[in-house]
Amino acid sequence: MKTALQHIHKSFGKVHANDDISLVIESGEILGILGENGAGKTTLMKILAGLLHADAGSVLINDQVVQVTSADEALNSGIGMLSQDPLDFPTMTIFDNLYLGQQKGLFIKKATFRNTITEVQKSLGFHFNLSDYVGDLSMGERQQLEILRLLVHGSELIILDEPTTGISAQQKTQLFDLLKQLTRLGKSIIFVTHKLAEVNELCQRTIVLKQGRLVGEVSIPCGSSELIQMMFGKNLVFQINTDVSSTVPQIDLRELVFKDARFLSNPLDLQIYRGEIIGLAGMEGSGQKTFLRTLAGLEKVVAGKIACGEDDLTGKLSHWFHQAGIYFMPATRMEEGLVQGMTLKEHFILTHQSDRFKLDFAQAETTTQEKIADYAIRGFQDSFAEELSGGNQQRLLLAMLKENARLLLLENPTRGLDIESTNWMWDKLHQRCQDGTSIVFASADLDELLRFSNRILVFFSGKISTPYQTQELDSEKLGALIGGEGWQ
Ligand SMILES: Nc1ncnc2c1ncn2[C@@H]1O[C@H](COP(=O)(O)OP(=O)(O)O)[C@@H](O)[C@H]1O
Ligand SMILES: [Mg+2]
Repeated sequence: MKTALQHIHKSFGKVHANDDISLVIESGEILGILGENGAGKTTLMKILAGLLHADAGSVLINDQVVQVTSADEALNSGIGMLSQDPLDFPTMTIFDNLYLGQQKGLFIKKATFRNTITEVQKSLGFHFNLSDYVGDLSMGERQQLEILRLLVHGSELIILDEPTTGISAQQKTQLFDLLKQLTRLGKSIIFVTHKLAEVNELCQRTIVLKQGRLVGEVSIPCGSSELIQMMFGKNLVFQINTDVSSTVPQIDLRELVFKDARFLSNPLDLQIYRGEIIGLAGMEGSGQKTFLRTLAGLEKVVAGKIACGEDDLTGKLSHWFHQAGIYFMPATRMEEGLVQGMTLKEHFILTHQSDRFKLDFAQAETTTQEKIADYAIRGFQDSFAEELSGGNQQRLLLAMLKENARLLLLENPTRGLDIESTNWMWDKLHQRCQDGTSIVFASADLDELLRFSNRILVFFSGKISTPYQTQELDSEKLGALIGGEGWQ
């Protein structure tokens, strides 16, 4: 299928989000759409997928103008878009999820539908058991399921908008392999991203959007500096890691052994310095989470020692870790971090109450107002935590972490956030490092690890590496280590 957009315009008030954009994509091709945050990528894709109406311009399939005024119509014409958050129902089976995704008014017999699914699964090498529950799937598997859904419903063009946010390096490799396989089946792929490396890895050709306009089109491979120049109009100097202002050890781990569900770690010696940022790299479930929780006093130490200055924290309750200024921010915001049914104000009362067991409501209101302003949280004192968007929940969690903390333990702190919020988050974290806080964070994003860490520990299959200086690594080397290559 050949798909084209011609002279697309779309404005939101004064913002000209798409300004006369035209493009063509052939069958069997992977087209990249690259551009910084706010460039107009999502808007353009939503127009193509029938989720937004263009002010002017047309969509053509095989040179015929088609009307795509709803997602159903688009899918009918063979255009499917992978949603950024899976829209599936976790408590339903895989079959029911796929079956429900049918276009309204079309009742295909379940048996026929089952056969179609089997065929598509076979062509992709998928092995989903249709009676399994969607809630038990990983993020990567849900994404595969979403692709399966689009294909079962006849998609010839699949649009993916920043699909690698929130999945592990391994899942990303699987996704890329799958997309390449789809092109061999004659499907077209549009891959939207702000990451140069991903375009280079996957696409044959990319267009670049900037402030709503198409500013370039290049064949891949192509030098990064050329693309950066197009995206930003200048050569960007990436933010350098904070200088570690002193070499005063803040936390001292000696021969620390912890127990994960599947393994016992090797003994780890590590001194975390004041103001230092340590990144934890590894595939999901390689022990990073347990390590963070052990440092927070939430998991028992099997052997060795955790010391903070003169204080030996080994074996103490998490309360004593708080006393020592050590705080943990979990990845699952609404499950471990925030409390459903509690307002923002109540969250701050909980985290900022003094030890005197006295709740000062007036003080709490002032604090909450200050935090909302300081952390740019879109919400009110009396908003419930679950009413906030994901990005704002993350801001709230960060705001709740006490100032002057000694050590912050962060699990995937920017997962699911857009670039702007990610940068904002790291600005805030850097400020804290300048004030002497140290940070240990886990992330599945190699760029993020390399950009913000002073040192990196790699986790692989129960083993923890000695710390690497970030300068010793690049994404290729780090990727290999995460995959188990290059270990001594
Ligand atoms: N629904 C909307 N209402 C108002 N402005 C919007 C809306 N959607 C997008 N915009 C604006 O349009 C511009 C392009 O946004 P978007 O297409 O999401 O960019 P990208 O996906 O490249 O980050 C931005 O300035 C954004 O703020
Ligand atoms: Mg976008």
